[in-house]
Amino acid sequence: MHTKNSCCCCSFEEYKHTTDWLLNQTSHRPKMAVICGTGLGMLADLVSNKQTFRYQDIPNFPVSTVAGHEGCLVFGTIKEKSCVFMQGRFHLYEGYSLCKVTFPVRIFKLLGVETVIVTNASGGLCPDFKVGDIMIIKDHINLPGFAGQHPLCGPNDERFGIRFPCMSDAYSKDLRKLAMDIIAELGYTNFVREGVYCMVSGPNFETVAEARMLQILGSDSVGMSTVPEVTVAKHCGLRVFGLSLITNKVSLDYSQEEKTNHEDICLISKMRAEMLQKMVNTLISRCPAPTDQDINTN
Ligand code: HPA
Repeated sequence: MHTKNSCCCCSFEEYKHTTDWLLNQTSHRPKMAVICGTGLGMLADLVSNKQTFRYQDIPNFPVSTVAGHEGCLVFGTIKEKSCVFMQGRFHLYEGYSLCKVTFPVRIFKLLGVETVIVTNASGGLCPDFKVGDIMIIKDHINLPGFAGQHPLCGPNDERFGIRFPCMSDAYSKDLRKLAMDIIAELGYTNFVREGVYCMVSGPNFETVAEARMLQILGSDSVGMSTVPEVTVAKHCGLRVFGLSLITNKVSLDYSQEEKTNHEDICLISKMRAEMLQKMVNTLISRCPAPTDQDINTN
């Protein structure tokens, strides 16, 4: 029996129903999808031929409950490339099962998307990181996954992917290289880094002891999202690229006075909005189609 809060609460037919509904409503056939993180919904602002759907109007779609997440699916084109943007994502801490959190990713797959760009806000753990830095995600740590909170737990649906997918190359090396070239051209090198993102379930920010532990484990930044979507995207053969905006420095010291809060995170996102927009748009416009190797899940 699958209930809302257990693993794999969505049937193939539900994914199919939502996809068919969207395909009937729009003539867009996106090859690229962007998941906008906290305060980053404006990444969709520059698309042409825009068609917007509110999550509440899409059959089976969850709805965003967090400030800074608009709750719209936006179809459009960037330099003639058809794309779809999620303005607002779903989190474990909202009470959604990971199946619901990752529901849109499988919709992207069935819509014909080949590449997913994930963005998020995170707290910097690496001592070299400054607030406002942008981290290209090289790898991740799925901390909830270690505790059994994993989006692929439960019966495996072979129509999406194999039982034991490889995750050692979750973030496309080619797209990371392309992004680095674009960053150099745009003159953004000074505040762009590469690093490992660690997911925690939230909703509280970390204690000092937890932050120290995450740093020892090899995390450069910490946040409450992204990893489930990336895991499901990789499982179904989508190519992934990830950007994390460092919105705060995580306290690693008991003497640090500053307290992390959601409002400051939204403020920093706004501050870097234009630059992130330029990076993402240029990446979309220059992104080549994936090769067989990019989408091989074995
Ligand atoms: N911790 C967890 N999630 C976050 C943080 C943080 O410091 N900043 C933004 N998202």
